[in-house]
Amino acid sequence: PRLAVIVVAAGSGTRLGRPEPKAFVTLGGRTLLEHALEGVFAQPEPAQVVIVAPASHRGDAAAIGRRVAGPVQDAVTVVTGGDSRAASVAAGLAAVAEGADVVLIHDAARALTPPEVFTRVVQRVRAEQVGVIPALPVVDTIARRDHSGAVLEQVDRSELAAIQTPQGFPAEAYRAAVTAVVPGAEHTDDASVFAAAGHPVVTVPGDERAFKVTTPWDLRRAEHLVSGGRP
Ligand code: C5P
Repeated sequence: PRLAVIVVAAGSGTRLGRPEPKAFVTLGGRTLLEHALEGVFAQPEPAQVVIVAPASHRGDAAAIGRRVAGPVQDAVTVVTGGDSRAASVAAGLAAVAEGADVVLIHDAARALTPPEVFTRVVQRVRAEQVGVIPALPVVDTIARRDHSGAVLEQVDRSELAAIQTPQGFPAEAYRAAVTAVVPGAEHTDDASVFAAAGHPVVTVPGDERAFKVTTPWDLRRAEHLVSGGRP
């Protein structure tokens, strides 16, 4: 396939307060990873899917991948993640087959991301050969503050966006960027590494349903959605 999708699922998810790694917490009886993979396989283009799992859950991840992939079994690879998200992405990238033209990097924790977000990102990467990230307007007022909690300034919200995944890149340029840029604390996503290597990055509309399950409250919201509730 020309499209490769790396699904990072190797985080511990301590903020969720569950013993199992976050991607293996269940939502309506199925893991976050399974829900996330359903979104990936529901987008229309054939894809190589690389699941990045914790070492302890590689077998589980492979079983989940087989279940969701159905007849396209050979499309799924499972690799072991690293201590940081960047290390997990690098492990996933190493498993992407030569010949892919677009690589997407997606958080398993954004389990309810609808397929059309994937399509929007892929189309824009192919059309313009740039980094593409889904974004939503920021609804809260955002302030910069010091460690004591005193407000230093309020930031102009109209210039801000909340960034989601899947993030998409021309595959070869992304590989080169990851090799060239040493990830630092300022690189909290994949596009910031791509931008640090000098490449343009643009936004496409994100989706409310692509929120990242991080806290117990997020999990409740996600449960409500999969049980047929409205957002
Ligand atoms: O921790 P956070 O919610 O920002 O993680 C975002 C995504 O990155 C999750 O899907 C998580 O499983 C993944 N991750 C990873 N390896 C790490 C840390 C996070 O694959 N070491």
